[in-house]
Amino acid sequence: MATAEDKNINALKSFMQESKTKDHPDSQLISILHKAQELYGYISQEVMNEISKEMNIPTAHIWGVATFYHYFNLKPKGKHSISVCLGTACYVKGAEEILNTIREELKIDFGQTSEDNFFTLQEARCLGACGLAPVIMIDDKIYGSLTPKKVVEIIKSYKK
Ligand code: FES
Repeated sequence: MATAEDKNINALKSFMQESKTKDHPDSQLISILHKAQELYGYISQEVMNEISKEMNIPTAHIWGVATFYHYFNLKPKGKHSISVCLGTACYVKGAEEILNTIREELKIDFGQTSEDNFFTLQEARCLGACGLAPVIMIDDKIYGSLTPKKVVEIIKSYKK
C-alpha cells in the first residue's frame, strides 16, 4: 500500500514532469518549490535532491532560490504558527513591543520554530483587523488589543 510519503513524492514527480513540458522548464523552479511546500509543509534536503535529479538543476541553485524567498520553509513548521502583524496600524500601536515579547518568550525570530516544535513565528502585513491593533494571529485565530502581558498569557494558554 502506498504511504503518504510515496503519495507526496509521486505527486511532486508528476508535477515536475508536467513542468518540463512548459515553455521554459528552468523557470518552473519556484512553482515546483511551492508544490513541494504544499505537499510536505517544508522543503527538506531530500526533496531538493529529488528536484535536482528530476529537473537537472544543481542543488546549490535550488538551495539559493529556496533561501532567498522568505515564504519557503526549510524546516518542519511548529504545531502552531504565530503571525505578528507589522502593518501600519499595528506598528503605531506597539507591534514591535509585542514582537519583542514573543521573541524573548519563545527565543525565536521570524521564520524560525521554537525548540519544542510548538510555534513557528512569521511576519504579516495587515491581518484585516486594524481596529483591534496591535494584532497577532495564531493558526486562524485573531488576538487583538494586545499588551506584552496579554501575549505571554495567550502563548502559555496554548501549552496547557
Ligand atoms: S495593520 Fe495590523 S491588522 Fe491591519
